[in-house]
Amino acid sequence: MNESPRKILVTSALPYANGPIHIGHLVEYIQTDIWVRFQKMRDNRCIYVCADDAHGTPIMLRARQDGIEPEQLIARVSDEHQADFAEFNVDFDNYHSTHSDENRFYSNTIYERNRVKGHISNRTITQAYDPVENMFLPDRFIKGECPKCGSPDQYGDNCEVCSASYSPSELKDPISAISGATPEQKESEHFFFKLGDFESMLKEWTQGGHLQDEVSNKLDEWFRAGLQEWDISRDAPYFGFEIPDQPGKYFYVWLDAPIGYMASFRNLCDRTDGLNFDDFWARGSDTELYHFIGKDIIYFHALFWPAMLHGADYRTPTAIFAHGFLTVEGQKMSKSRGTFIKARTYLDHLNPEYLRYYFSAKLGSNVEDIDLNLEDFAARINSDLVGKVVNIASRCAGFIRKRYDGMLSETLSEPALFDEFVQAGKSIAKRYEGREFSHAVREIMALADRANQYIDEKKPWVIAKQEGNEQALQDVCSTGINLFRLLIGYLRPILPATTAKSETFLQVPPLTWDNLATPLTGHRIAKFKPLMTRIEKAQVQAMVDASKEDLNPATPADQPSGPLVDDPIADTVEFPEFARVDLRVARIITASHVEGADKLLQLTLDLGGDTRNVFAGIKAAYKPEDLEGKLTVMVANLAPRKMRFGVSEGMVLAAGPGGKDIFMLNPDDGAQPGMRVK
Ligand code: MSP
Ligand code: ZN
Repeated sequence: MNESPRKILVTSALPYANGPIHIGHLVEYIQTDIWVRFQKMRDNRCIYVCADDAHGTPIMLRARQDGIEPEQLIARVSDEHQADFAEFNVDFDNYHSTHSDENRFYSNTIYERNRVKGHISNRTITQAYDPVENMFLPDRFIKGECPKCGSPDQYGDNCEVCSASYSPSELKDPISAISGATPEQKESEHFFFKLGDFESMLKEWTQGGHLQDEVSNKLDEWFRAGLQEWDISRDAPYFGFEIPDQPGKYFYVWLDAPIGYMASFRNLCDRTDGLNFDDFWARGSDTELYHFIGKDIIYFHALFWPAMLHGADYRTPTAIFAHGFLTVEGQKMSKSRGTFIKARTYLDHLNPEYLRYYFSAKLGSNVEDIDLNLEDFAARINSDLVGKVVNIASRCAGFIRKRYDGMLSETLSEPALFDEFVQAGKSIAKRYEGREFSHAVREIMALADRANQYIDEKKPWVIAKQEGNEQALQDVCSTGINLFRLLIGYLRPILPATTAKSETFLQVPPLTWDNLATPLTGHRIAKFKPLMTRIEKAQVQAMVDASKEDLNPATPADQPSGPLVDDPIADTVEFPEFARVDLRVARIITASHVEGADKLLQLTLDLGGDTRNVFAGIKAAYKPEDLEGKLTVMVANLAPRKMRFGVSEGMVLAAGPGGKDIFMLNPDDGAQPGMRVK
């Protein structure tokens, strides 16, 4: 069937290294993994690479907040990401990092080649600057009052309350979300990628069959709006790659992020015989290159990325496959509703194959959002996978095992039915190839219904009681097992673990698309073990409850909350969560400056016998000597946190935007250290 295997390189977007993988991300990694597994099952040479996206301001600040080096943070998060992916059976051929030698090399190369051709410009711009942190502020780190509706505490360039968009300079009373200081305007030289130079190339490329129709249409709008120069540099302090010959200037994270695709592939080539980088990336290459991405990052992948590659004389992608966003119960994932479900929390409660199946049943080739409805999820798995597919094997396996010592009939008694299933494989394959997974699933389930109908008609449990019908019983059950084999073969890209168990049960080597057409006859199968169990409502509920518990009880006072700390989606707090926070009156016994810390004071607190060491970000507001002897309120059951200067064993409560305007809570003198705050 496959005369010359295709050579295909596939990527998923690189997840940021400052947060855990959640089920929204998994839409993409599961979608890509299924497509790659399908290609491998077709005997194509398909390589799937990914990496952590390790650079940028949020990662730098996150590390600083945790009191560790960014390198430590990204190493830890990379391990966590990879463990999550492995348990969801997302099978990368390589997983690398954008903070790598390979990525530095290709980033420099692509920048240099574009620069030499005149595609890089530079000029001085004015930007918001945090005078306390001594750093320029990205839009999302500026907070203030919405200029349209007046809602306080809105981030960067759009209002979550009235959805207005504006420039951060229009915010009223803006403050830095990092230090609380009022931003200043400061000049700095920046470097720009001249996207406009590529207008004709991009117009041709975006109309050249490399994009979904809806995406091309979106791009037409962007073309009409005009292609702007893209700011690709950031000032120190920044966690990233310094621009060659420009000390203190760094590549913006989004410049080196897609180059991470190349870097990960290069890293794989360097340890794989016969895998050649240029075969996949040189201009004119006959290999295929696909990027799976979410709809939020189309601009980067469909405009900047092909332009950068073209300017640097590399090949451009064969296609970009964008998908929509995951909603849960019809809404954006929400921490307080327990629908912001981390990959790890899901794994603690449910079989990953359920989610792979559910997403497949919903995914098409378009960019529409998909919804996870938890009730529908359980019902679907129980009826389709447990009730229909696995059931066929369990209905037939017992008789074959007990009566025929595990041997299937020598010949197929229903060649026409078997052939119908084989023929259906062509259409199913087309569906997989076109990323119409929901259609593939529908067609497979129609076959499963057909197989169950066959068994219902033949009633092996009745034949089993009739004398002299031994051959008929073996034939019916052998047909059932053969139909099951085709079904599970077709589901193999979606359900790799269940398929592996089925292969053990069937005693066959890994199923490929081509070998499915040959039936199993005169072949001994193993004892049947349950392949998949039903989902119980309680398991789903437990997962939702655990997701609510993942909420941080409070935000440390030494780091005013910003978008980097908490998900902005978080809304209300249920009482039980709130009640878990143990608030106590504490007396400040000693207060002192911390060597090397610009914002922190070190406090020793008396809780009525118990003393605690706490670092608080209140240096701009209080002199240590003014605090000693005073009462305040602290969170007494906050998990201890290792900071650069020592372990902080709690948090004191304060109000205010930060900087000089921080007001520690002082209970009346009637209060006693250790008293619970109600
Ligand atoms: N680091 C960038 C990508 C760089 S690629 C050169 C990034 N990271 S991300 O962690 O925010 O997202 C990774 C992928 O997951 C993106 O394709 C994004 O669209 C996707 N998703 C993140 N949340 C999602 C949902 N709720 N639903 C579906 N996909 C989502 O963007
Ligand atoms: Zn508003």
